[in-house]
Amino acid sequence: MSDTAARPGARERTVPTPGTPTHEHVSLAEEWVASNYHPLPVVLSHAEGAWVTDVEGRRYLDMLAGYSALNFGHLHPVLVEAARDQLERLTLTSRAFHSDRLGPFCRDLARLADKDLVLPMNTGAEAVETAIKTVRRWGYEVKGVPDGQARIVVMAGNFHGRTTTIISFSDDPVAHDHYGPYTPGFDTVPFGDIEALDAVITDDTVAVLLEPIQGEGGVILPPDGWLRDVRELTRRRNVLMVADEIQSGLGRTGTTFACDVEGVVPDVYVLGKALGGGIVPVSAVVANRDVLGVFTPGSHGSTFGGNPLAAAVGQAVVGLLATGEFQQRARRLGALLESGLRELVGHGVVAVRCRGLWAGVDFDPQLLTGREASHRLLERGVLVKDTHGSTVRIAPPLVIGEMEIQLFLDAFAAILR
Ligand SMILES: Cc1ncc(COP(=O)(O)O)c(C=O)c1O
Repeated sequence: MSDTAARPGARERTVPTPGTPTHEHVSLAEEWVASNYHPLPVVLSHAEGAWVTDVEGRRYLDMLAGYSALNFGHLHPVLVEAARDQLERLTLTSRAFHSDRLGPFCRDLARLADKDLVLPMNTGAEAVETAIKTVRRWGYEVKGVPDGQARIVVMAGNFHGRTTTIISFSDDPVAHDHYGPYTPGFDTVPFGDIEALDAVITDDTVAVLLEPIQGEGGVILPPDGWLRDVRELTRRRNVLMVADEIQSGLGRTGTTFACDVEGVVPDVYVLGKALGGGIVPVSAVVANRDVLGVFTPGSHGSTFGGNPLAAAVGQAVVGLLATGEFQQRARRLGALLESGLRELVGHGVVAVRCRGLWAGVDFDPQLLTGREASHRLLERGVLVKDTHGSTVRIAPPLVIGEMEIQLFLDAFAAILR
């Protein structure tokens, strides 16, 4: 069912009303939304915890969790309460004035990361851009690299966002092609290859930018010890280690940060996604004063960065993480997920990579593409998303329960039969 909203002088438009079936919503989106995504044909209208409901009243288990932006599940009561309370008090000041929310949020986040300073932004890509600006400025002002010469080492298969500079060093042609001219100053080495990294560093290298686990790439884990080797190498060569923990961080891997698994502390954390609790975009660069102290008033900024609503939700997120409960859940339930998925290897699954409640599963490409698997799971009431080719990424909200993991594993086994 739909009705037509007629506004004088306006183009006739169709507005969905409650009860509008899936295909009408999909047609409307196909008509009016730029097609930079290829969503599965499900139209969601409600959610709670690990479950979402579509416009026709069907429930689905959310095994994607907004690409880890929903680590605490949909509508976590503590986060909703923080947002609601803030919505009724103050939502935006710009950074022209202080708010009573920003200091407490940044203090708590800095303490969680055991660093001195936080630079708040909104989206993940903005935080990565901020990190790039941070390390270049550090290179010129602290390390003494000649102006305009700074180089940053990045990893093959990286995904750090969609801005022009970031896609300049992406090797995914779909993300990269036809957006030139590209930003120079990046050197790419294979992910997990410490010798290649050592060989590419020069006196002009200011930073190594890496994802501790490549999420978008298909939950690719580096070889054991690599993060520690990078830490040692970057320290020895006077190069900053920047960990993009936008997807891997904030509890997903069973530790607060994925770097914690190897006891590694990078110079710079880049955070986003779950920092906004799935409610508002909140991202941040977190580092010590000797690095983030390079900014001066006017040298960087964002109208919405660190706004009171974002800060209130972000501080509540940090509060949830400070209990350690979610990290522990990710470890315990992740072990269950991993053992269930491993049983499917040889039965249509060729590889499983797991860390905490995060898994990349490769299907036998003769049997199934990731997209086909996502469709089949959708029919069985489970939402996942393909990454590349025959791979799906599984990242449930950390509030998921044992029974729900089992339900997912049963559905997953069923699509392979
Ligand atoms: C590791 C990593 N960095 C950066 C980003 C970009 O974040 P956003 O989409 O919020 O700009 C993503 C998004 O998937 C990501 O996974």
